[in-house]
Amino acid sequence: MDAIGRSMLAAAVDGRMADVSIFSPASPQAGWIVELAILALAIIGIIFLVVEGILFYSVWRFRRRQQDADGEPAQVYGSEPIEIAWTAAPTMIVFFLVLVTTRTLWEVEAAPVTPRAGDQSLFVTVIGHQWWWEYRYDSYDGRKLGFITANELHIPIGDDQIARPVHLTLQSGDVCHSFWVPRLGGKVDLIPGRTNLLSFETTEPGLYLGQCAEYCGAQHANMLLRVVAQSHEAFEAWLVQQAQSAVEDPAVAAGKAAFLANSCVNCHRISGTAADGSAAPDLTHLMSRETIAAGQVANTLKNLRKWVHDPQAIKPGVLMPAFGLSDHEENQIVEYLRTLK
Ligand code: CUA
Repeated sequence: MDAIGRSMLAAAVDGRMADVSIFSPASPQAGWIVELAILALAIIGIIFLVVEGILFYSVWRFRRRQQDADGEPAQVYGSEPIEIAWTAAPTMIVFFLVLVTTRTLWEVEAAPVTPRAGDQSLFVTVIGHQWWWEYRYDSYDGRKLGFITANELHIPIGDDQIARPVHLTLQSGDVCHSFWVPRLGGKVDLIPGRTNLLSFETTEPGLYLGQCAEYCGAQHANMLLRVVAQSHEAFEAWLVQQAQSAVEDPAVAAGKAAFLANSCVNCHRISGTAADGSAAPDLTHLMSRETIAAGQVANTLKNLRKWVHDPQAIKPGVLMPAFGLSDHEENQIVEYLRTLK
C-alpha cells in the first residue's frame, strides 16, 4: 500500500492524522525516553558546533596569504596537553551519556517489576508472527480474561484516581520482531525462546499507531499495529464483548460450513466453533477490528473479499495462500466472516 493510502487509513478513525512522533509522548515512559533523546541531541549538537567552528576558523585563520614564503609552512608534531584534553573530554562525555541512559533504562524497565498498590493493571501476552501480532488477554484488575485477538490492542486509560498500567509479555512464534508504539514506549524485541517485558500507561484516549521495528522478512514494513486507548467504561464493555463466543447466525450457516470444510480451519480460530487453529489471527470478533492484514488495509467488504480471494495480492509473501475456492464459496465465507462482530 502506498504512503497516501496508509495515511488515509490512519486518518480514518477520528478524522485526523494519527501522530507517530516520539516528540509527542503520551505516557511517562515515552516522556522519559524523549527527555533522554533531547539531552543527547543537545550534547551532540554542541560537539558538532565546536568541532565545525574550530575547523572553519582554522581554514580561514591559517589560509595561504600573499606575503607567505614559498614552500611548506612550519610542521608541528604532537602536543601533550591537547592529546590529554581530546582523550579525557570524550571519555567524560561518553561516561555521562552512559549514566543518563542507564537511569532512563532503569526507570522505563522498573514498571513491570514494581506493581503499585491500587493500580488496575492489564496483562497481555503479545506473540509476534510473520507478519501479524497475536494478543492473549491474560488479566485485568486481578480478573482472569483468556480471550485472543490480533493486531489491534485495546487498553484502558488511567485517570486522576486510578492508574491503569499495561504490562506486555513479549514472545515470538517464529523470528525476531520488535514491538514499537512511538508515543507510548520504546522498542522491545520479541525473541524466539525468550520472554521480554514492556510496560506503559497513558491518560490520553485515542489511537496510537505502531509497527514492527526489527526486520523480520518480506512484509516487515507491513507488520503494523494499532493501540486503541479508551475510557475504563468503554474498555470494560469491549472486554465483555471480546470474551463472548462467536455469534451464531443461521442465515450464514452455509458460509460457516464452507469455512470449516476448507483449509481456513487449519490456521484460524473462531471461538465456539470447531475452528481452533493458532497459526493465524483469531477471527472470533473479526468485525470489531478496523483493519485486516495487520493494519495494512481497512476492514471493508471489498478488502475482505479481495483478501479471501488472493491474500498475496494485498500482502505478497503472506503465509495464507489463495485456496482457489469457487466464487460462490468465497462469497459464502465472506458473508459468514462479516457476521463475526
Ligand atoms: Cu516483525 Cu519486523
